[in-house]
Amino acid sequence: MKHLLSLETLSVADFEAIFGRVPTFKQNRGHHARPLSGQTWALIFSKSSTRTRVSFEVGLRELGAEVLFLNANDIQLGRGEPIQDTARVLGRMIHGVVIRTFAQSDVDQFAQFSGIPTVNALTDDEHPCQILTDIYTFQERRRESIGGKVVTYVGDAACNVPASWIFAAARLGFELRLAAPAGYQPADSLLRRAGGTQGPALPGTPTGTTCWYFASGAKVIVTPHLNWAATGADLLYTDVWISMGKESESAERLRQLEGYQINGNLLKRAKSDALVMHCLPAYRGKEIDAETLEAHADTIFSEAENRLHVQKAIVDWMIS
Ligand code: CP
Ligand code: NVA
Repeated sequence: MKHLLSLETLSVADFEAIFGRVPTFKQNRGHHARPLSGQTWALIFSKSSTRTRVSFEVGLRELGAEVLFLNANDIQLGRGEPIQDTARVLGRMIHGVVIRTFAQSDVDQFAQFSGIPTVNALTDDEHPCQILTDIYTFQERRRESIGGKVVTYVGDAACNVPASWIFAAARLGFELRLAAPAGYQPADSLLRRAGGTQGPALPGTPTGTTCWYFASGAKVIVTPHLNWAATGADLLYTDVWISMGKESESAERLRQLEGYQINGNLLKRAKSDALVMHCLPAYRGKEIDAETLEAHADTIFSEAENRLHVQKAIVDWMIS
């Protein structure tokens, strides 16, 4: 049985198997096969969601399933019932589950104890469905592989979204530059877990920059210097400065991350045909300015739409 808990364990063949299914679901929407006919899937969400909730509810229905949306606070899980017990109960009643929560160990344990296909719809550690969609969208719009390209992430580089980008880079062999101030950079342990080895600085990298090398040919470059990081990029990408669960740190984060913004000046440093992407929701004037977001709205909202098509491909891959 397959799960999608993390991008860490996905092989290149898995990425290709998922991406290869997307056009069928996207082009034949409403007319494709319904492999989940007769099944019931549940969404268990402990955090807010617009895109992930709607794209999974709609996508699972279009694949033929009945769908239950369970706010974690409305079930006994919210009153302290252990995840292992919730998993063992639901595993006897439903056919698959999509979970958005805080601890990665909760989705891992649900998969282990339920015996049904389990999808990570965002934890504090990772957002695999988002990054699969982002890479699909990049390749769809550019009509070329992301391998060998330069992806520059600007903002809080210690949260779930950049972590999934690191695992994807390690596998697919692109250069990922993470531009973030000290305290908002990924842990060395994460880069090592992804298979990285810290090595010599690339020629021209500014001081305070670390370079990690991977067997796939990928490089992950961690730097506080966002202008350097944006230079020659094929994709500029950002996420919120204040992730869900970090609201108590809001004032400090606004202070520390100020300036780590995608805007017209930064974009001038990227390649002339660079894409700008944002997983959304966007906070204009913080991680991206309003003008840049609107100028790249077609890419950004296609990226959001693709959540639907890519996640149907993920589920179809999981059950195959
Ligand atoms: N990008 C994303 O996961 O959006 P939601 O939080 O609205 O699901
Ligand atoms: N890093 C953000 C992603 C939102 C889709 C968060 O966890 O809130």
